[in-house]
Amino acid sequence: MTDQTFKTTINWTEYWDGADDETRTKTAPAAQLTLDPLESFVETVAQPGAVADVGCGPGTVPFRMAERFPEADVVGYDAAEPVLQENRERAEGEGHHNLAFEQTVLPEFDPGRSFDLVTCFYTLTYVEEIEAALAALYDAVGPGGHLVLTYHNRFAHRHFQRIAEDPHEHLGPESPWDPDNFADRFELLVEGENLLSHERIHDTLGTWPRSIWSVAGEDERYAAWRHNPMVYVPK
Ligand SMILES: C[S@@+](CC[C@H](N)C(=O)[O-])C[C@H]1O[C@@H](n2cnc3c(N)ncnc32)[C@H](O)[C@@H]1O
Repeated sequence: MTDQTFKTTINWTEYWDGADDETRTKTAPAAQLTLDPLESFVETVAQPGAVADVGCGPGTVPFRMAERFPEADVVGYDAAEPVLQENRERAEGEGHHNLAFEQTVLPEFDPGRSFDLVTCFYTLTYVEEIEAALAALYDAVGPGGHLVLTYHNRFAHRHFQRIAEDPHEHLGPESPWDPDNFADRFELLVEGENLLSHERIHDTLGTWPRSIWSVAGEDERYAAWRHNPMVYVPK
């Protein structure tokens, strides 16, 4: 499948089609940023029986959760079929019998079942109807479960606006982002159209989010935590 079939600022199907290792690594921020605090969270707060990671990309979170909780049922979801197919082949090759990958395109997420833990990292920033997406993710959390997410806030808005004014000046060779398409890729964020805040999450879900840092270790706090909070919402 190479046709873009969903509305977004970047063609994720093309992006993942034949992506090399470098692309996979630079499109997996969860590996460096959210995996350790998520592991602290699940150790401290609740060991999940069923996990969904939405916008899973190359599957950092689902692969780790499936390894860590062999009894848990883990599903990685993404909009782009090519990355899901690669993940399925890897899961089969590594013998993960508790791990599946399925397509969903936020704001739609209707898995027909509930999960103890639903995670969504570095994906909502590409979704225009962010409140609908947030509500759908939370709907899939069962009673006593948790939604854990990262989001971009008004500080990120200013930061990304500055970069978008002159991406070649601001983005060096180590940047995970291509300066030539930065402004298009982050259009929703740069335009301030899909920013979240503690208040907006509360108003959408009816429950206050809590900072992951109230649970995870200070040494796991990543540098951009003010711009790009990581929170959990209990159900
Ligand atoms: C920056 S990557 C993040 C991958 C992973 N969550 C991580 O943090 O390592 C964003 C992922 O979201 C997926 N994505 C983009 N728009 C989406 C949508 N509307 N619904 C579901 N997934 C989407 C992309 O295909 C991509 O794999």
